[in-house]
Amino acid sequence: MTITAVESIRLEEQSRIDASKTINARRRLGQFATPPDLARDIARETVAMLDGNATVEMLEPSAGTGAFLSAFFSEAPGRVRRILAVELDLAFHDAQKRIWQDFPVDSRMADFTALKPDRFVDLVVANPPYVRHHNISAEVKQRLQADVMAETGLRLSGLSSLYCYFMLLSVKWMKPDAIGAWLVPTEWMSVNYGSAIRSFLSERVRLLRVHRFDSEDVRFSDALVSSCLVWFRNAPPADSVTFTSGGDITHPSRTEEVSVAELRQARKWPPTESANPPSAPRLRDFFTIRRGIATGDNPFFILPQEKVQERGIPSCFLKPILPSPRHLKTDRILSDEAGIPVNANRQFLLDCTGIDRTDLPESVMAYLTEGEATTASKKLCAGRTRWYDQEQRSPAPILCSYMGRGKDDGTPVRFILNESAAIATNSFLMLYPKGSLRRVFAESPEAREAAWRCLLSIPAGEFRRAGRCYGGGLQKMEPRELGDLLCQKLADWLSERIGFQYRQEDSGQLLFAMEPESPDEIPSLTKRKRARKFQTRRDANS
Ligand SMILES: C[S@@+](CC[C@H](N)C(=O)[O-])C[C@H]1O[C@@H](n2cnc3c(N)ncnc32)[C@H](O)[C@@H]1O
Repeated sequence: MTITAVESIRLEEQSRIDASKTINARRRLGQFATPPDLARDIARETVAMLDGNATVEMLEPSAGTGAFLSAFFSEAPGRVRRILAVELDLAFHDAQKRIWQDFPVDSRMADFTALKPDRFVDLVVANPPYVRHHNISAEVKQRLQADVMAETGLRLSGLSSLYCYFMLLSVKWMKPDAIGAWLVPTEWMSVNYGSAIRSFLSERVRLLRVHRFDSEDVRFSDALVSSCLVWFRNAPPADSVTFTSGGDITHPSRTEEVSVAELRQARKWPPTESANPPSAPRLRDFFTIRRGIATGDNPFFILPQEKVQERGIPSCFLKPILPSPRHLKTDRILSDEAGIPVNANRQFLLDCTGIDRTDLPESVMAYLTEGEATTASKKLCAGRTRWYDQEQRSPAPILCSYMGRGKDDGTPVRFILNESAAIATNSFLMLYPKGSLRRVFAESPEAREAAWRCLLSIPAGEFRRAGRCYGGGLQKMEPRELGDLLCQKLADWLSERIGFQYRQEDSGQLLFAMEPESPDEIPSLTKRKRARKFQTRRDANS
């Protein structure tokens, strides 16, 4: 049978098995096949990286029905001597065995991460299962971490997805100088858990090339990840690596050479000027950024106004708190005289922090008694001195909804001007102005609005640079990443308003109006933490 005929049978089998499973079952095992044209592009590009013309032995550690088997047999006929095709799932393994019975394929049904090598290969090509860490049991994680440590000396974080273990464990199958080609999500390039992968690729092996597909170009529509291809050789690192992106693998729209020394230093890859730009005014120079509070049980601790009235809870135990970004229809929260929002849900956080139950009024005690059975044992609450204690935050004049998709090239997150005394839950980041900006904020509502408008003008691309993209366009900003946003406009506006130039220290620190930050500018740290922070600053300055 010709390879073309085999490929059409394979595609039929692929559709049949995919259709027989629920999307959740497929997600649990990361069962999203490589599109055939992409598999063929990868095969062509990878074969070009092989030395000489000798035939090679290949490993496919998560082979499914064999998209890569088909691609290599069709694009490089005669070049692949034998393929070891590992697959965990019985349905895929059975189909694969049948489809490839006339080809030099050794089909093995096994968990690749638990297999001991019984041969070494010249080539590993994989689209490994993208299974998130929540779906890997603690026991399996421990075994995988220990195996990776034994193999590479690197500690993979418990937050790592399964593909990370696959990639790091593959080296034990590779002959010296063998090539690895990995189609994986791009997350490892920017998230904290990716640091072991970045170390592996810049210190343990010779990274040859990384190609990032455009994030809108979601190759696996049902898996919702943005993907990249990583090629490395089982050899000591070279001096530089090629990063490409956009277009297709053969004709990328952008190409750059990056030194490996630079890669080792960079917090995010690729460390181009646009990804890690040199010193310039950033949001963290103007704001202290903190997450909103984690109440431990929002439905219990956050009460709508009617319920507060019905239960007769005194106002001294209540703080206005904003609804989640999804339920907040405005980007400018107006306030009544008491600081309660007038154009957002009027709801309140029950906050009796530090007060023993016996000292509370009866209405509050009665409400807490109801929570004993349901809320007190929840994870966050159970870990507190009093289960109903809450984190303390002052209201922040600017809030940021730190996750979004940014439709039509818009910015993925919302900056909200908060003119009320409402605080926020951890579905927001809270921005507290510091230094000169803090004083300007205290001057007038117009000043606050003008500063807020400067934030609204930060372009969408800047969020993509500083934040992380989860594919399908979903973007997320952690506090540190939000602080990394460049905000030249805000710097210029403030500079003009206060008549001071800012200057940049050699360290990159931005000094504005030259005054040190005093501890009362850091909202809601405990007194002891404040004192410690102030002391450290004084020590550093002395
Ligand atoms: C992303 S799919 C890729 C399939 C195929 N390589 C392709 O490119 O179309 C990942 C495959 O890995 C399989 N798999 C999941 N966990 C595995 C494991 N621990 N060992 C081996 N295969 C596994 C899944 O059943 C699935 O077929």
